[in-house]
Amino acid sequence: MKNYISASVLSADLLNLESEARRLGESGVDMLHFDVMDGIFVGNITYGLPVLEQIRRVTDMTLDVHLMITDPLRYVREFAKAGADIISFHSESESDVRRTIEAIRSAGAKPAVAIKPKTPAESVYDILPEVDMLLVMTVEPGFGGQSFIPETVEKVRLIRRRIAEKGLACDVQVDGGINYETAPIVREAGANVLVSGSCLFRAQDMSEAVRKLKGEA
Ligand code: DX5
Ligand code: ZN
Repeated sequence: MKNYISASVLSADLLNLESEARRLGESGVDMLHFDVMDGIFVGNITYGLPVLEQIRRVTDMTLDVHLMITDPLRYVREFAKAGADIISFHSESESDVRRTIEAIRSAGAKPAVAIKPKTPAESVYDILPEVDMLLVMTVEPGFGGQSFIPETVEKVRLIRRRIAEKGLACDVQVDGGINYETAPIVREAGANVLVSGSCLFRAQDMSEAVRKLKGEA
């Protein structure tokens, strides 16, 4: 199973996203993680479609969009059109999960479902065959720089086990509080796409940080 690092744009230098994308790509980062928050589903507001469109123009990196919004079904087509390669939305949102997955796929992006720390693993078992990725939040969504919630590790393990039992090709992403200490724990539990914000952008040597997070150094 291939490991990927998705760099959280929230921690990047937002006034220099073109050079940030270049620096990340040169450091071995695989994807850009773009957190969209509407101030209602979570208690914070970030950025949206116009910023994503601009980023799409300056990079070929995989754009991994994480929607923390109340009604994702209403917006997924526009996010796909703006250049999202992967679109994650929350199972706890108000949109119908299956219809949202279909809308993302028919718009040409890869669908992923995200779950908050208190949402049980079992609640997403039935949709695993329909998504390209399952995102297990390892902090409460809303802000970068929070501490990892250890209770989420078991959920990663259960979801990875279920994917293996059913012979599915589904990536398992973790998001929030991923650093050199927590990365080996989530990788061992079965996560293969690690989002990193503060840890990655704080590093003196970003290439080394990527190798460490992937368990290659
Ligand atoms: C939190 C966001 C995360 C966050 C990760 O709601 O979804 O993507 O930016 O940042 P760190 O790695 O700093 O926890
Ligand atoms: Zn995120």
